[in-house]
Amino acid sequence: MGFDVEKVRKDFPILSKTLEGGKKLVYLDSSATAQKPQCVIDAIVDFYRDKNSNIHRSAHALSMAATQAYEDARKTLCGFFGAPKDFTGVFTRGTTESLNLVAACYGAANLKEGDEILLTQMEHHANIVPWQMIALRTGARVRAANILPDGSLDLDDFKSKLSARTKIVSVAQASNVLGTVNPLGEISALVRKYSPAALSMDAAQSAPHYLANLGDFDCDFISVSGHKCYGPTGIGMLIGRTELLDAMPPYQGGGDMIDSVSWEGTTFRPSPERFEAGTPNIAGAVGFARAAQYMESLDKNGARAHEEELLEFTTAELSKIDGVKIFGRAKGKLAIISFAAEGVHPHDISSLLNAGGIGIRTGHHCAEPLMKTLGVPSTCRASFTFYNTLEEAAYFVERLKHALSILR
Ligand code: ALA
Repeated sequence: MGFDVEKVRKDFPILSKTLEGGKKLVYLDSSATAQKPQCVIDAIVDFYRDKNSNIHRSAHALSMAATQAYEDARKTLCGFFGAPKDFTGVFTRGTTESLNLVAACYGAANLKEGDEILLTQMEHHANIVPWQMIALRTGARVRAANILPDGSLDLDDFKSKLSARTKIVSVAQASNVLGTVNPLGEISALVRKYSPAALSMDAAQSAPHYLANLGDFDCDFISVSGHKCYGPTGIGMLIGRTELLDAMPPYQGGGDMIDSVSWEGTTFRPSPERFEAGTPNIAGAVGFARAAQYMESLDKNGARAHEEELLEFTTAELSKIDGVKIFGRAKGKLAIISFAAEGVHPHDISSLLNAGGIGIRTGHHCAEPLMKTLGVPSTCRASFTFYNTLEEAAYFVERLKHALSILR
C-alpha cells in the first residue's frame, strides 16, 4: 500500500476545517508555514500545564523538569538532523535568526577587507541581507553564483567564483521559489577543494521534506525553522561545528550565556549557552522536538514519493494551460510550483483561488534578486507537502482555469 495521506491528514486538525461559506480549506502554502499535527499542539499545552518553569536557574522540581524537557528537545533535534558528535545545536527563533547569528558572529571573527562571501542567485533575503550587513562592517564582498534556465545552480559558475578569498559560502539546500534542491555533496566538495570557506546551509525549505541531514554532506552550519517542519513558530536551530561555535564571539548578552560577570568584564560559556541569552522559547523547543518525532514516525520514502506525484501531476496540468509559465523545472525539485499567467496579476489569481478556499502565496517570496533574474516582479506559488492530496491538486488546477477565464 502507498502512503496513506488520508490517515496522515487526520493528524492535522486544521486540515478538516471548513471555511466561511462552507468551503473546504485547501492549504497550498506549506512553504510559508506548515500546519501542525495534534501531537505538537498537545506537547506545547502539556508543557505549559505540567512543567512550566524557567530553565537552568533553580533546583526546584518544575525547573528541573523544564530544563530536562528543553535539553531533551535539543538532543532529539540534533539526532533528527543527523548532527555528528562534534556539532552543537543552538536554539534560535528560526532560520533567519540562525543565519544572522552565523553572519554576525562567525563573520565578525573571520572576515576582513578583500574577503568574499559566496551565495547563489536563488537565495531568500534571510540568506542575503545578514551577509550584506556583515560585509558592510568588515569590508568583505558578497557574490552570487548564477542559476541555469531550469532553475538549477550553475555549478561551473559557482566553482569559478570560489577562491582563496572566499571565506564563507552560504547556500539554500532548497529554493523557496523554484523548489530546486541544490547538490550539497558536490557543493561541499567544491568548497573544500577550491577555498578555505566555512559552508553554511539554509535548510528552511528542505528540512520539512526529510532532506536536511548532516550525515549526508560535509558542511559547517545548518539553519532550520520549527514552523516549516510542522512545529511551532518562533523556534529554530543553528547546528554548527562546536569548534567554530566556541571560537565565535556571542552577539547578544544577557542571562544564561555568561561564565562570570564583573565590572571589569564578562567571560562567556561555551556553546550552545553562549548564543542563548535570556529565557528561551522553552515550550517552542519542546514542540519542535515533538514535530521531529512525528516526522520520524511517518513513512519518509512514502511521503517523498507522494510529494513527487503531486508535483508531477500539477506541473503537467499547469503546463497545458495557455500562457502559464512555471519558474523552476530542475530535476529532483520539491513540490513548490511558482508560476505566472500572461497578462494577469498574481494577486488577482490568488484572490480568486481564495474565493474557492485555496491558499497560495503571491509576491516576491522574500527573494527579490531572484525575481530580477527571472524577469518578473512577483509570482504565484503553490507549495505542497505530504498532507496534500491529488484531489486538492486537481481542484487547484480547475479553480485556476476558472480564475483565468474570468481574468482574461
Ligand atoms: N520563507 C517563507 C516562504 O517562502 C516565509 O514563504
